[in-house]
Amino acid sequence: MTYKKIIIIGGGVIGLGIGWQLAKAGAAVTIYDRSEVGRAASWAAAGMLAPLAEAHSEEPELLKLGCQSLERYSQWVAELEAEAQMSVSYRDEGTLIVGLAPDDTHQLRHLYEAQRNLRLDVNWLTGREARDIESALSPRVTAAIHCASDYQVDNRLMVTALQRAYQQHGGALHGNSTVERVVIENGIAMGIQTQDGFQNADTVILSAGCWSAQIAGIPDAIVPPVRPVKGQMLALQMEEGIAINSVIRTVRARYPTSVYLVPRTDGRLIVGATIEEMGFDTRLTVGGVFELLRGAWEAVPGVYELPILETWAGLRPGSRDNAPILGKTPVENLIYATGHYRNGILLTPITAYEVAKLVLTGETSEVILPFQLDRFLK
Ligand code: GLY
Repeated sequence: MTYKKIIIIGGGVIGLGIGWQLAKAGAAVTIYDRSEVGRAASWAAAGMLAPLAEAHSEEPELLKLGCQSLERYSQWVAELEAEAQMSVSYRDEGTLIVGLAPDDTHQLRHLYEAQRNLRLDVNWLTGREARDIESALSPRVTAAIHCASDYQVDNRLMVTALQRAYQQHGGALHGNSTVERVVIENGIAMGIQTQDGFQNADTVILSAGCWSAQIAGIPDAIVPPVRPVKGQMLALQMEEGIAINSVIRTVRARYPTSVYLVPRTDGRLIVGATIEEMGFDTRLTVGGVFELLRGAWEAVPGVYELPILETWAGLRPGSRDNAPILGKTPVENLIYATGHYRNGILLTPITAYEVAKLVLTGETSEVILPFQLDRFLK
């Protein structure tokens, strides 16, 4: 292999994942992050691996990419856990999408039909059948869709594991280090300018999540169309009497927020999330937290008694069409891996494997071809 010098802007799971694969292949990789590595969207996420539960019939390419990434998840986890010598709590108990009122059942049925039309492996359950799987569910649950192959991983453990595996292969990490600009000469990315001066690279990869549009030096016409989409979240402590194993999601036709509950192996129950266009504002609001608690309590009444461990808000990197922006750009040696919106944790393996392959071979695979920036430039 030719020895390559790679700079990655952004040290979330996407940057770390690509960096790990490249460092493993022998490249000299340096990651720069504007704040603490892996503490933005990668830390705030819930870790749901849910191409089916989040499937929209109008986004078939994204659904396909999500399913392809999920197919590679067990291999990804095995490889990562072996190298990092730690568990990332990958769990395969599946997902239940539940309705709590007649309107919800209607919406649920619509979703189920769309999923069936996409030939997804989902099952319709009565409320009782759903409670047979998760006894903590409310007697008000009228119906549910069981997505047996929508899994979860502990995203925070994955951040730690990726950081470890990446550094073991010699990858360099610079947290709290601002990239002042990408240096481009004659249409070719030459490296970046940091507070410590110019750093040259054979390839610059932009994976800075919702900050990707703020990196100076990139020509206006090709700035990635990525914006922050706020999500408020909280974590509860599960106690005796409340044992939940599946991911539970609600469909609420009459409320602004549908919620999800994600049980962790360590006993935490993650509850999320609002979807708000509030720029870079990460404050928690009464309304946001109220909607989450109401949704969680309606689906699983027993949460009423549980202690609240943590509250936070994260910023998803939303693109104009909800799909990630992956691959080559009109600037030679400048590659994008950003805009993963609600699917960053799910899409980490496919992004890391395919973008690393692109950097090493120069060839864009069929898998990521539909997700290049050029779809926005036409
Ligand atoms: N994928 C979960 C969320 O964006 O809230």
